Amino acid sequence: MAINKQEHAQWSSSFGFVLAAVGSAVGLGNIWKFPYMVGESGGSAFVIAYLFCIALVGFPILVAEWLVGRRGQKNPINTFADVAASEGKSRSWGIVGATGILGGFLILSFYSVIGGWALNYITKVASGSFAGQDSDSVAATFDAMLASAGTLTVWHTVFMALTALIVGIGVTKGIEGTAKILMPLLGLILFIMVGYNVINGGFGEAVAYLFTPDLSKLTADVMLAALGHAFFTLSIGMGIMVAYGSYLGREVNLLKTARTVVILDTVIALAAGLAIFPIIFSHGLDPASGPGLIFVSLPIAFGSMGAGTILGTLFFLLITFAAITSSVSLLEPTVEFLEERTSMNRMMATVVASTVIWLLGVAALLSFNLWSEFTIMGNGIFDALDKLTSKFLLPLTGLAGIIFVGWKMDQRTIQQELGLSNGMWQLWQIVAKFVAPIAVIVVFITTLMG
Ligand code: TRP
Repeated sequence: MAINKQEHAQWSSSFGFVLAAVGSAVGLGNIWKFPYMVGESGGSAFVIAYLFCIALVGFPILVAEWLVGRRGQKNPINTFADVAASEGKSRSWGIVGATGILGGFLILSFYSVIGGWALNYITKVASGSFAGQDSDSVAATFDAMLASAGTLTVWHTVFMALTALIVGIGVTKGIEGTAKILMPLLGLILFIMVGYNVINGGFGEAVAYLFTPDLSKLTADVMLAALGHAFFTLSIGMGIMVAYGSYLGREVNLLKTARTVVILDTVIALAAGLAIFPIIFSHGLDPASGPGLIFVSLPIAFGSMGAGTILGTLFFLLITFAAITSSVSLLEPTVEFLEERTSMNRMMATVVASTVIWLLGVAALLSFNLWSEFTIMGNGIFDALDKLTSKFLLPLTGLAGIIFVGWKMDQRTIQQELGLSNGMWQLWQIVAKFVAPIAVIVVFITTLMG
């Protein structure tokens, strides 16, 4: 069913759009993944590499994806194909949209599993079960959760169902409405956590750990991890922001909007670091304990502090809120695609897409227990999905997108879209044509050779 521009829903305001984009960007990537990747990559080296990747690669690609999306006004595949055709280029640029939709599928499957962990921990912390427990028993609780395929499946199912419900209701009511309520709440709770740490110790140590430059640890692997994470945390390299751009009104200033989103996303990630690492240091915990980091370390701290049950419950609520506004954005492009290209209505498209993703998620969670022996090139299913998407699909799709905008589209169109005058326009061109693509290519080649 063809949908023309008039029929296509638009964001109620540019404020609504910023909220929804921030809602997509800020998620488990900021609060679960960023801290443990910092911990695994030795602290500040990762933080510095990440900040560079955000500014020089992530920002321009975010702008590029919105720009293409706004011109195309369709799902990512048709958008790339149409915009390419209108520039006299091959319609096979639609493939860039297709790899994006594929990436969304794959990411949401394992994302929903972690969303399920967060949901489960709301109930665990709220029931006061961590009060007064030592590190061994907290770790045992986490290990027991991982070992139980049944528990993981139940919470993964609840998380996926919540996501499907919000997407099924529709774009403006679902995504924008949710973001409007949840995002400010998220900021508030993080703020409280950081404030608590300033008073209760470990703060100076955490600041030093996160920000004292130690470039000796800046290896090619750390660079690739930081690059992949820059894509993951901004929700780029996958068609999601292309799909969002299709709802974006002409009057919205892309560069200013991207700046707001990038700054908020980065501030939230760093705030999550400042909320988590002081607790880790003041309780003598290991920052490098991997994906379980927040689940194994924080409950120990919450269990030993005065208002720990309340604070801990709020914290896991916050993670779940953030995860849901992101997972909603992971499901949206697939649903939009099915809705426009098949006879399915929105509800039906949502049910079909989420069922397939749910099944893949079950396979991913089984790699923590029943299927732990099964590996793909040395990785369990969960790790394989994470690595395939963050380290390959996202950067390569993003690279194609920025090459399209920097080299394939008529540059006068781009200049008009961005509304830039001479000096800033030249800066944009240097970054979009050279800095961003070359950075991605160099990181890839260095990693492949290493
Ligand atoms: N950015 C989200 C986070 O940080 C995850 C996410 C949502 C995402 N949509 C995406 C990642 C699209 C890559 C592509 O948790």
